[in-house]
Amino acid sequence: MAVSKSFRRFGLVLLLVGIGIQFVPTDRSNPPVTRDVDASPEVEAILRRACYDCHSNQVRWPWYAYVAPVSWWVAHDVEEGRSHLNFSTWDRYDEGRLQRLKNEIMDEVQEGHMPPRNYVWMHGDADLSDADIRAIVAWVKS
Ligand code: HEC
Repeated sequence: MAVSKSFRRFGLVLLLVGIGIQFVPTDRSNPPVTRDVDASPEVEAILRRACYDCHSNQVRWPWYAYVAPVSWWVAHDVEEGRSHLNFSTWDRYDEGRLQRLKNEIMDEVQEGHMPPRNYVWMHGDADLSDADIRAIVAWVKS
């Protein structure tokens, strides 16, 4: 009996903590798009589908981005992703930087590192086909 009582108390504390953390502010903003990526409509559609949720200012926040603590993790991914590469602020990169970024994009998709595995589990449509990868490589080399 005593065990089950302390167990219930533990459950109540967990529940209260779970509710409490929902009030921690999480940044889910989408800053303005200053200039969209320079690519053919075909390539842009691929990037939009597979990359924009972390590398753009047009993030479609999923429902779990509203539930702490998962939301903290999603917001952190977006912050990190944007800091490395942001398809919505293409005007902020000079020619040299653009070429380096495009080469990195090519390497990441060819090696299968991007989009991240766990993202693809939740977003099946982000899975890149061989044709998608070929289109990205052709864009980078153009
Ligand atoms: C779920 C979020 C997410 C998605 C979707 C995503 N990325 Fe990323 N990406 C990240 C994060 C976080 C980083 C920075 C940390 C790292 O390198 O893992 C990153 C880093 C990168 C980098 C920089 C690597 C480096 O070494 O600096 C490139 C290039 C990149 N991603 C390309 C892409 C491309 C192209 C797509 C779509 C095909 C994509 N990413 C999809 C989250 C994402």
